Amino acid sequence: MFKALETAVPAQVVTIYVDGTPVAVREGETLALALLETGMDDFRTTPVSRAKRGPFCLMGACFDCLVELDGHANVQACCVEVRAGQQVRRQRGARSPESGA
Ligand code: FES
Repeated sequence: MFKALETAVPAQVVTIYVDGTPVAVREGETLALALLETGMDDFRTTPVSRAKRGPFCLMGACFDCLVELDGHANVQACCVEVRAGQQVRRQRGARSPESGA
């Protein structure tokens, strides 16, 4: 569904971990785009209805791309770049007090 345009300088492929599963993504692109390219489209569920949410605006306005990143909850995946070794967790319902941020 989503595919980044090819660039003159190929990006380095790195491994991040999504819900504990290793995933190969391109370093330097936004985390939201990288996750969409893997086929993941539900990044979180809402606290009340548990409805699935995924990136909508890709520019920091809608907050539908929130994930837990390296232990910090409520990180906008469209506003951070991929770095090797990142630990990403989908947010399910309300954040827990132990999840930081
Ligand atoms: S996709 Fe809208 S804030 Fe990230």
